[in-house]
Amino acid sequence: MLNLAIFVSGRGSNLKAILDSSACNEGKYCVKVVISDKERCGAFDIAHSCGIPTYSISKITRQDFISHEELPSILQKLNINLIVLAGYLKKIPDEICSLYQNKMINIHPALLPSFGGKGMYGMNVHKAVFESSAKVSGATVHFVNEIYDSGAIIMQKCVDITDVENPEEIAAKVLKIEHEILPSAILKLAENKVKIKNKRIYLID
Ligand code: GRF
Repeated sequence: MLNLAIFVSGRGSNLKAILDSSACNEGKYCVKVVISDKERCGAFDIAHSCGIPTYSISKITRQDFISHEELPSILQKLNINLIVLAGYLKKIPDEICSLYQNKMINIHPALLPSFGGKGMYGMNVHKAVFESSAKVSGATVHFVNEIYDSGAIIMQKCVDITDVENPEEIAAKVLKIEHEILPSAILKLAENKVKIKNKRIYLID
């Protein structure tokens, strides 16, 4: 069974998609904790409504606030074996990257390796895609390493954006895909159906 820590910064629609997935309800994976760089966010409300504990990462010492340094011990105490970055905006410390090598994934709202890297998050991505005149966009689930958006790609799905009139329309189309592929990728990992060979990822049916 996969014990998940979900890292968030915003409204939490991807967290909700994970919690609503049938695999989650069937107990194939379990959200043990939700962690944010924010003191409050929509994702925390979703977590609290499901009785899931939350922590904010901060330099301030207060109840429910933790420092980056405390993160490894908290994750280990909760027996976390997969970290999911679901709209988390801060860089993950290198120490966590190496502790959770191939055990940490991110959802990116574009087709990597295009439109990724530092500063490419949220609407910045969709604006860049819109301005590029690309006819397709999509979402990517990938492993996380020390370099932004550059880990091996686990799953991608594209969407036609030929007729969109603004970046917001791209965002709406891509978000639907994020909600599909993030729970699917987690399920593949939970079922041990993700294999790494020659730096490529192979998904077993
Ligand atoms: C998503 O578009 C995700 O791909 C990006 O941030 C957004 C988070 O949305 N990295 P939500 O908080 O899951 O609703």
